[in-house]
Amino acid sequence: MCSKFSRFSHPKITENIKKSVQNQLLEAISIYDNGGIYERLEGEFKKKFNVKNAIAVNSGTTALFSMFYGAGITQGDEVIVPSYTFFATCSPLHQLGAQLRFADCLDNGNVDPKAVEVLITSKTKAIVITHMWGIPCDMDELVDICNRYNLLLLEDSSHAHGATWNEQIIGSFSDGSAWSFQGKKILTSGEGGFFATKHSRIYERAVLVGHFNKRAQKEVTDEDLRNFVITGTGLNLRMHPLAAAIVLPQMFDFDQIMQEKRETALILKKEIETIDGLKIVRIPSQANPAWYALPILFDKNKFTVNMYDFVKKLNELGAYEADIPASTCPLHKYPLFHSPDKISQSYPQKLYVNKQNFTNAIKFHNSMFKLDVWYGKERFDFIDNYLSIIHYVAKLYKK
Ligand SMILES: Cc1ncc(COP(=O)(O)O)c(C=O)c1O
Repeated sequence: MCSKFSRFSHPKITENIKKSVQNQLLEAISIYDNGGIYERLEGEFKKKFNVKNAIAVNSGTTALFSMFYGAGITQGDEVIVPSYTFFATCSPLHQLGAQLRFADCLDNGNVDPKAVEVLITSKTKAIVITHMWGIPCDMDELVDICNRYNLLLLEDSSHAHGATWNEQIIGSFSDGSAWSFQGKKILTSGEGGFFATKHSRIYERAVLVGHFNKRAQKEVTDEDLRNFVITGTGLNLRMHPLAAAIVLPQMFDFDQIMQEKRETALILKKEIETIDGLKIVRIPSQANPAWYALPILFDKNKFTVNMYDFVKKLNELGAYEADIPASTCPLHKYPLFHSPDKISQSYPQKLYVNKQNFTNAIKFHNSMFKLDVWYGKERFDFIDNYLSIIHYVAKLYKK
């Protein structure tokens, strides 16, 4: 077994990133409108992600909030959300008084369009989806459902930077899409995010809620919204200009990174699937994932230990980034979702969650661990090290 182990560093702090931050320190550390680094970053983002309107914000969570506020989701609206996702996919909806309906997932962790469709009522306003671990959801079926019922389709694309469905980039299909740029994400500003939409009214409302005065004055044109341009509607969600400077150079390396990640994923998939009891989650034929992570299904019947002990052993031997996601899980168990009234009287519903078993989400969560998907020159060392450790542990615990 190889003995040279280290943690993978992401993002790579290149000379271009250092220069970009230094230049930004001299240029401006606070920007009131949509100029300077915001204009450059948003311009690149719009080109790369094929979106009409895009706004940089200070986190993925606030990108999601901007999307929900922009879409006009309010008290009394029902929103169908995935049961299995990171909680911020839907936690911002509580600030707007919406009622959630959780939909169970498919065998690959992505929301099941059939489970979504049965939850639609006359109060449903939107369907929210997350492309889990970078694997696109079934956009054909989800777009079709939203068209048939006249509902908004809103995406959490935080894991899926650059993923495609039928060769169309994720984030460009729907009524709105939100991306996290937090430190572990493929494109990252440390903390940060993006919101994009093809609808100018949704966009202008998103500008109003987080980018008051100068930016709002420039970009908000709707007559009824213009009354609010000076004050905005309550928040400041601007991305820090230094964060924008960190991520801008990554836009130019992105295609290369994506190509290398895809190569890594293929090598790992091919080799790991030779092990009886381990399998990469199902990738639909229309999907080209972003490989934010490599999700692996663990068949407990094939090993003498459970998944937790299996992953613990991987970690002990140097496969540090083998990980069982904890807070990304079936969400109905969290107090925020079943007892929101205990934290604030402004949340009127006693019970936000439809009572279901979410069998697939629980099963997926209990049988999946993940690896990072490496890029850069050192990726081959990581591939070799991890594969030799995985083979060793699988043999050690083989039933
Ligand atoms: C799927 C998903 N949605 C939303 C978020 C929230 O993003 P942020 O941490 O940038 O607020 C994350 C971040 O970890 C995520 O993984």
